Amino acid sequence: MRLGVNIDHVATIRQARRTTEPELIYAALLVQEALADGITMHLREDRRHIQDSDVYQVKNIIKIPLNLEMSLNEEIVNIALDVVPHQATLVPEKREEITTEGGLDVQSNFDRVKDVVKRLHDKGILVSLFIDPEEWQVEASKETGADAIELHTGSYANAKNERERELELEKLINAAKYGKKLGLHVHAGHGLTYENVKPVAAIEEIEELNIGHSIIAKSVFVGIKEAVRLMRQLIYEARWKSV
Ligand code: PXP
Repeated sequence: MRLGVNIDHVATIRQARRTTEPELIYAALLVQEALADGITMHLREDRRHIQDSDVYQVKNIIKIPLNLEMSLNEEIVNIALDVVPHQATLVPEKREEITTEGGLDVQSNFDRVKDVVKRLHDKGILVSLFIDPEEWQVEASKETGADAIELHTGSYANAKNERERELELEKLINAAKYGKKLGLHVHAGHGLTYENVKPVAAIEEIEELNIGHSIIAKSVFVGIKEAVRLMRQLIYEARWKSV
């Protein structure tokens, strides 16, 4: 299982003062040194954390894959086509939200998603669609020609009790199985923490997790390399037990 580390919140701290520290490039290099499998960044339309220049700089300096999270906004699509990340993950975006709230409604935005998938593919960029773990969204994703789906783990992470959490986990398992059956690569992410990652990491069909907030939060206390190492360790334990 691959671990993509989302470094947006390193930029959140920098933007709090509109200064140059902490340096995002340095964070990306340390994440790479910690043997993460990829760097994930979300270039939001409001540029609240990651800036355009960050995306170019990180892409140019890292050797591991860059996964660019992006909305369907034309300006952002054009930047992605110019940067050419290894992978683009298409997400919905609302200006007033604190973080990405729901998955992309692929069915309702089908023509636009299909068009963006094709343009990204023409540049050799792999495309993943960030969706809620629902069968119809998995099917619609497949029909757009996307390579992968990233299952939104937010409802699982925010479950109010154990029963709700089990139900949400079941949805993730079913969607992961269905996605794989349709020939899609399956990723997952959002709201995953050191406490809740293991059951998701144990889902065999999931190949990649993208985790940000919890890793960056822990790195304040233990450093970013150690924070990545600790997360990798949990993922490894979950995976090892399930085989
Ligand atoms: N995956 C996607 C598609 C996201 O939008 C985000 C948040 O930017 C993440 C993963 C990471 O979520 P978190 O910061 O809660 O780990």
